[in-house]
Amino acid sequence: MATFPPGFVARPAVTADIPAVARLEADVFVDPWPAHLYLQEVEQPLRYQRVVMNDSRAVVAYLFACWQVDELHVLKVATHPLFEGRGLATALMEEARAEALRGNARGLFLEVRPSNRRAVRLYQAIGYRVIGRRPGYYTNGEDALVMFFDLSRPAESA
Ligand SMILES: CC(C)(COP(=O)(O)OP(=O)(O)OC[C@H]1O[C@@H](n2cnc3c(N)ncnc32)[C@H](O)[C@@H]1OP(=O)(O)O)[C@@H](O)C(=O)NCCC(=O)NCCS
Repeated sequence: MATFPPGFVARPAVTADIPAVARLEADVFVDPWPAHLYLQEVEQPLRYQRVVMNDSRAVVAYLFACWQVDELHVLKVATHPLFEGRGLATALMEEARAEALRGNARGLFLEVRPSNRRAVRLYQAIGYRVIGRRPGYYTNGEDALVMFFDLSRPAESA
């Protein structure tokens, strides 16, 4: 199990969380998913979706992922700006890795903007490697880096 800092707990996301998730999403992403997209995703099969609550029971971080055959695709991970730098995203990513292992995944992948240095650095620090680039992936024309965590070669990925 991933270790969250004291005062923070993670649990599966449910429909009732989506207004809070969508508000946080709109605060931290330049191209946020609208609430209806989250409503289509939440509680669907072949998904892995977690929210982190603080001791006031507010949603302060989340991770949404979906299974694609034998890979877990991390679609979204975010932390409220007031709670950054405490290890919440790292712990959520660790939980996703554990879920992928439980599901016998070959690995996990995600897309990230090369300009999002903080996120790229975080993913590299926990063992993700850049395996490709999707040209013009984002709405403003920015490319996406494709990053992969290889579960079939744990010694090299750690
Ligand atoms: C990128 C993002 C998810 C990181 O979330 P976070 O919860 O702050 O991440 P963590 O705290 O796990 O790690 C971030 C940094 O804090 C450091 N850290 C981790 N635990 C820590 C702790 N207990 N105390 C102090 N610092 C810590 C990490 O080493 C890391 O350092 P770095 O900035 O030098 O890389 C967050 O900034 C965010 O939501 N950004 C906007 C949305 C976004 O870009 N999402 C990713 C899109 S692909």
